[in-house]
Amino acid sequence: MFGNSRAPQHIDKDQLELLKNAQKRIKQKKRLYIHFVVFLIGAVFLIIANVFIGVGKGLTLFGKNWFVFAILIWLFLLLYHVFNVFITHKFMGKAWEEEQLQKLMSKQKERIGELEQKLEEGVGHEGLEKKKSELTLIVAAAENNAIGKDNNLIWHLSDDLKRFKTLTNGHHVIMGRKTFESFPKPLPNRTHIVITRQANYKAPEGVIIVNTLIDAINIAKNDTQPFVIGGGEIYKQAIAIADKIEITRVHEAFEADTFFPEIDITVWKEITNEFHEKDANNEYDFSFITYVRNQ
Ligand SMILES: NC(=O)c1ccc[n+]([C@@H]2O[C@H](COP(=O)([O-])OP(=O)(O)OC[C@H]3O[C@@H](n4cnc5c(N)ncnc54)[C@H](OP(=O)(O)O)[C@@H]3O)[C@@H](O)[C@H]2O)c1
Repeated sequence: MFGNSRAPQHIDKDQLELLKNAQKRIKQKKRLYIHFVVFLIGAVFLIIANVFIGVGKGLTLFGKNWFVFAILIWLFLLLYHVFNVFITHKFMGKAWEEEQLQKLMSKQKERIGELEQKLEEGVGHEGLEKKKSELTLIVAAAENNAIGKDNNLIWHLSDDLKRFKTLTNGHHVIMGRKTFESFPKPLPNRTHIVITRQANYKAPEGVIIVNTLIDAINIAKNDTQPFVIGGGEIYKQAIAIADKIEITRVHEAFEADTFFPEIDITVWKEITNEFHEKDANNEYDFSFITYVRNQ
């Protein structure tokens, strides 16, 4: 998962053609450079041969030594070579360039089309499979975002537990290993998915063990509303990909060792807010608040 098993990359015909042409172009320029260096050395050699060694001494044309004409002819050939490389064969001509550009553009369009289709189907680039469900974080958090201490809850709110049971009944509940271990036993009528990095973590029958959050979500993909039920570590990771947050905001601040991440109101929109006063079964004032991700 997490996109480890990528399909091998193949170079197609068009890409191969582009590559070959690029190599050809490099060779052309290399040859021109060698020609230039040979010309410089050759010119010096001709001058030395004529002036210092005396080769063809006395052979002149229009009053000039023969090497002047030899160098001029060679210079002309070199210029012709330059012209060929930079003008005539400038990347196989304009038409060729246009054709390559069109090919590249149509390839990009094809790729964009594929990505758009994948997005429509909800296929993420990091291994998330087809998405049909509304991933929901469900949590009870204090005003200072405290959610737990010593691997336990901090308060007792009877109505919150009832709401938790009603909302999650019949669904997948995704949790971190520590939260799972804070339960006396698995909750009835829910499919438990426990996330751990341990390779051989043992859990009671029926409890699904996974090693990544993405695996947990993929397993629950046919559930219309899988719930992430904590704790702090898992909320922190899941809030980036969740669709909804069902939070019971406890109107008090507590000392804690585990916290819910800050809800960014530029990302999350509050759609319901129901205040409850404390009573015999609920020791603090609280509000049931639902957030959905802004479009
Ligand atoms: N107020 C609420 O609504 C609420 C709800 C739930 C929990 N809680 C509280 O939260 C506290 C527990 O939360 P916590 O943050 O300490 O622990 P947690 O999130 O429940 O579990 C943490 C564990 O999950 C596993 N894990 C985390 N990220 C992982 C990843 N990316 N890949 C694989 N495994 C991963 C690791 O297990 P391994 O160490 O086994 O590898 C890690 O130790 C408790 O106090 C609990 O009572 C409160």
